Amino acid sequence: MSLKNRERWGAISQGLHWLVAALVLLLGVVGLVMGELPRVPKYFWVYTAHKSLGITVLALVVVRLGWRLYAGAPPAVPGTPGWQQRTASLTHGLLYALVLAMPLSGWLYDSASGLRPFRLFGLVEMPKLSAPDERLADLSHALHEWGFWLLIALVLLHAGAALYHHLHLRDATLARMLPHGWLSSPNKDLR
Ligand code: HEM
Repeated sequence: MSLKNRERWGAISQGLHWLVAALVLLLGVVGLVMGELPRVPKYFWVYTAHKSLGITVLALVVVRLGWRLYAGAPPAVPGTPGWQQRTASLTHGLLYALVLAMPLSGWLYDSASGLRPFRLFGLVEMPKLSAPDERLADLSHALHEWGFWLLIALVLLHAGAALYHHLHLRDATLARMLPHGWLSSPNKDLR
């Protein structure tokens, strides 16, 4: 399998795509559950795990964007109307913006709340992005919370479009984001 993105997405883009998707969903579940946990030392590791995995997503998305700039993207599947291509580009741009905004707003909230600095996976102390500031903490918290629901809405739209292409149009849109042979696209012209 090619590493670069040619007719299909290459192995690096595919791996980063599914890893970031899985981590974002995991972080969402952990983020929502941890708010319900009593704020006692016994559960602090859950916060540290959430923050550490969130910073990992930030790093992975930066790598992913860099790799996409270097390796390019496959052309649209033949026959895709222009409006669908423009909607897809807009959705992808917004998805990138939100997966960057989520960890950054979480980190900013953590910083502005005046909490003790957290250690990435318990190892390296992370710098603060701001001095303690109640208004900034409220703002970044709102962004972190509402940004997540907006992200989920876009993910549903994005996944729905991929399934529509696969099941209804029967083209290679979804198959080419998976290792070769995992999913066949019945319409051979659109492979
Ligand atoms: C893609 C990355 C991330 C996702 C998807 C995510 C998702 C979430 C979600 C859904 C919540 C619950 C929001 C609420 O209902 O209040 C939450 C809470 C939280 N997140 Fe994240 N998060 C991410 C990264 C981070 C990072 C990098 C940090 C800090 C460095 C962080 C710090 C926090 C904190 C402190 C809370 C608890 C807020 C509270 O006290 O109510 N998050 N996160």
